[in-house]
Amino acid sequence: MGHSLIDHAVDILNKNDLRTYTVPTHGLYPFQWNWDSCLVALGQSYFDEARAWTEIETLFASQWDDGLVPHIIFHKDDPGYFPGPDVWQTGQPIPTSGITQPPVAGFAVRRLYDRAKDKAQAAKQARALLPKIDAWHDWFFRCRDPEGTGLVALIHPWESGRDNSVDWDDAFDRVPTEGVEPFERRDLMHADASHRPTQAQYERYIYLVQLFRDLGWDNTKLHDASPFQIVDPGFNGILIRSCADLADLADALGEPEIAARNRAWAKAGSAAMEALWSDTYGQYLCYDRKAGRPVDNPSVAGLIAAFAPLPQKRADRIGTRIKNMGEDVTYLVPSQPADTATFDGKRYWRGPAWLIVNYMISDGLAHAGQHDVAERIVNDSLSLIEASGFAEYYDPITGEGCGGKAFSWTAAMVIEFLTRSKELV
Ligand code: GLC
Repeated sequence: MGHSLIDHAVDILNKNDLRTYTVPTHGLYPFQWNWDSCLVALGQSYFDEARAWTEIETLFASQWDDGLVPHIIFHKDDPGYFPGPDVWQTGQPIPTSGITQPPVAGFAVRRLYDRAKDKAQAAKQARALLPKIDAWHDWFFRCRDPEGTGLVALIHPWESGRDNSVDWDDAFDRVPTEGVEPFERRDLMHADASHRPTQAQYERYIYLVQLFRDLGWDNTKLHDASPFQIVDPGFNGILIRSCADLADLADALGEPEIAARNRAWAKAGSAAMEALWSDTYGQYLCYDRKAGRPVDNPSVAGLIAAFAPLPQKRADRIGTRIKNMGEDVTYLVPSQPADTATFDGKRYWRGPAWLIVNYMISDGLAHAGQHDVAERIVNDSLSLIEASGFAEYYDPITGEGCGGKAFSWTAAMVIEFLTRSKELV
């Protein structure tokens, strides 16, 4: 079974490969997405290391002068997607969006380097990417943590990668919709409306884009100007892990200054994460920086945090929490717990399980010695593929595949789960 699944996964990655970048899936997402590309590169490294490096290099070729790495690179026009470059108007040579996405690049590049068969080539590629990833991390702490708390805030839900999470509902009540230019959604041409964000959410997504655009995408202003400022433990966990991994990589490549800076960010971030811990839920919670209070919702963000190096007792408690959640769902890990009133098993980030999330959580828990839970997560992930193919996300109770089909990062994660099990469980 393993082999035919891998062949199928490789086939999907090849079909979605536009030579220098890979689309998440044709139709619904016809451009390059930031964290999709970095995670896809891990899958590509199984059959073509050079191609894997290209994927990440293409992404960083669109890094902004201030250090931001955009969430979408619009390599070519496509009328089937909204909001396109005409809405963002970021003025970049190759058009891009103006917000970012979870910074998995530091983690991915270290993993590519560690595993590389062609070490000389990998060292060359990694050395060229090192200062760029470092500049991106620096951008985060300068522009998204202006008060030096150690943790960064998101200013748009799309930055989290969990577009319509329940985590944003309260903060979204504060985001107005006056002045939103009329628009036509294109996602509903490609996917079932009941699996996607609502119209009310889309209006607020676009309100924020217009607000930032009116401020000229000046990142010295956007954080403070945004009515939406959320400190997400999953996002910060990913950033902390990438800082720690980039530090190790920089040491291996003889770049002690980059190593020291990134190690300091990881250390400060890990310490600051304590403030997001909830004993009531046994996991981390988001913090609404604008409202000055925690977001009272135990979403998967607080479990993704396990991807970061954490105090052992926190990782252990997260392991127990996920084990318990396994009694309410057939397939771990739901993006919203099945025992909450807002759970919606098919609606994007309000319930469904995602393989990339499962990958990061199982990797973190395995590092922390939580092998049983990590193994259950990996097995559930592969059962989903066998039951429903390579979908974008899955109903964690019925296992139904939802959203886009023939999905790149799902394929990449399957390759990872089947070929790298030693690192993951
Ligand atoms: C959706 C997801 C986001 C992903 C993108 C492309 O917007 O929420 O995380 O990067 O699709 O797959």
